[in-house]
Amino acid sequence: MQITIEVNNRKIKAEKGETILSALNRNGILIPTLCRMRDFTPTGACRMCVVEVEGRDRLVTACSQPVEEWMRIMTHSQRVIRSRKTIVELLLSNHPDDCLYCNRNLNCELQRLAEELNINERRIRGKKIQMRLDQSSHSVVRELSKCILCGRCIRVCDEIVTATTLGFLNRGKTAHVGTAMDRDFNFSSCLNCGQCILVCPTGALHEKHNTTEVMESLNRDNVTNVICYSPAVPCAVAEIMGLKYSKEFDLVLNAVLRQIGFDKVYNCGFATDLYIDKAARSLYSSVKEGRRETTYLSACPAWLKYAEQKLPGEIGSLSTLKIPQQIAGAIVKGVVAEDISGGNSEIFTVSVTPCTGMKFESRRDGMTRKGVSDIDAVITVTELSRLIRLFGVDITSPSGEPADAPMNIRSSSALLTEVSGGYTEAIVRSLMHLSGSGEPEKKIFRKLRNNHGFRDLSLAIGDEQYSFAIVDGLHSLERLNAEISGGKSYDIVEVMVCPSGCVHGGGLAFFSSKEVLRTRARQIYATEESEAVNTASRSPALLSFYEEYGDFSDERGEILHTKYNARDVLL
Ligand code: SF4
Ligand code: SF4
Ligand code: FES
Repeated sequence: MQITIEVNNRKIKAEKGETILSALNRNGILIPTLCRMRDFTPTGACRMCVVEVEGRDRLVTACSQPVEEWMRIMTHSQRVIRSRKTIVELLLSNHPDDCLYCNRNLNCELQRLAEELNINERRIRGKKIQMRLDQSSHSVVRELSKCILCGRCIRVCDEIVTATTLGFLNRGKTAHVGTAMDRDFNFSSCLNCGQCILVCPTGALHEKHNTTEVMESLNRDNVTNVICYSPAVPCAVAEIMGLKYSKEFDLVLNAVLRQIGFDKVYNCGFATDLYIDKAARSLYSSVKEGRRETTYLSACPAWLKYAEQKLPGEIGSLSTLKIPQQIAGAIVKGVVAEDISGGNSEIFTVSVTPCTGMKFESRRDGMTRKGVSDIDAVITVTELSRLIRLFGVDITSPSGEPADAPMNIRSSSALLTEVSGGYTEAIVRSLMHLSGSGEPEKKIFRKLRNNHGFRDLSLAIGDEQYSFAIVDGLHSLERLNAEISGGKSYDIVEVMVCPSGCVHGGGLAFFSSKEVLRTRARQIYATEESEAVNTASRSPALLSFYEEYGDFSDERGEILHTKYNARDVLL
């Protein structure tokens, strides 16, 4: 039901029951917020969104206060502005003054608020916060001195990721955000997903940087520098650089990476195709032999760590295939090393990915060859974008170049895997190819693409019936368990920790509206539609690779596999 309220002497329509903030925003009236996150119940913690309501002694928080008929609201009265300014001045009073060196310089909500509120002198002086810098995690750095205690990271980790790694510890001056028993991140239940980074308004949380070691390697002699990028990377780089993405941009990125100094540029989508092909063939033959068991696809490193920590009973059901990034590393160092070394004594492999969890994955036991890591450094899309700017490469000018063989081409299935449900689609396509069932009809996948959370699909392919489940965000595990308890069984369960999949990875650009996620997914679907090879098992690069090096179905296949173990952490 619609009601009328008055804002800044102007009548506007509001929905009964909605908050003042929601009514203001719908009518194009903007006020600052800090602790509030869209789609979460408000906590009213920061009081940045205060407004003056006629007849109330105190200012009210617009994010939590519902509208009432004929409420008269002032959003920018002197009293309101003074209050907001004081809050920001207090936050700044003990905040480190190292903006120029901060990871979030020019992209910090606190910095922006200070500028918007015209704060240009220090009126309140406080003792600078001296908190530890936690660099123990391979993926996420915590700079506690920059934390403004908004609580966003705690909520996203608890309510979206469900890892419940973070919480408020202590009170008063020593209050801070920490892990169980206040231990370092690497001892915590953190899944390395980076979702907390995406919501932190300041530089208190950011990805661990690995660009320094990449630069050092580029400067060394006798090293073959190799880079491989995930299928979503070109699209994500274009987004950060403010360019419109099209398929040709993949070729432009190859040229840009060579200009930076990489000797070999690989499309990691090739390794994704190999992963899909191997997973589909394994499922196809076990079903043919009458062996039906559930396999959890394991291309999400955060999910793998979650399973090791919380679901030790399911570890035996995790696919033993390494994630594509590690397959690419194993191929570089274990298969084509001699062909590409060019007489150099060392090969340095860099992976570019939307995912902060891949940094952890590359450091797992078993991801090495003769004691040397298959992937030496993992950088996120944001780190790569900084490198491109640092090297002064004009990304709008280079003409396109192909990636290097043998990992030069990917199928459109590999691109699809960057969106939740994509692995399932890709496996279905390969199963149809293997069983000689032709091309799948598009409408089969509509249900997988247009929903979020839990989805499942049962499908006749060839002579067999296959069933798939998609867990899009870990909160959907509950639904999976309910379906299984209700008698359903699945051949493949695809799990991704970041809701919507890798297009929501912690190593991508910050965004404030879910529309950005939808746009990223739409771009992937549109590009996928326009490509000719849509089945991983038919990828020409994969077929030539099998022809030249074999299909690794013998004992050499060991380089494509790993194992997972139960992991003890304080939960
Ligand atoms: S990286 Fe993910 S799991 Fe770890 S604290 Fe952040 S949100 Fe939680
Ligand atoms: S670490 Fe960031 S998101 Fe978490 S409470 Fe501090 S400022 Fe807020
Ligand atoms: S945004 Fe409303 S109290 Fe923080």
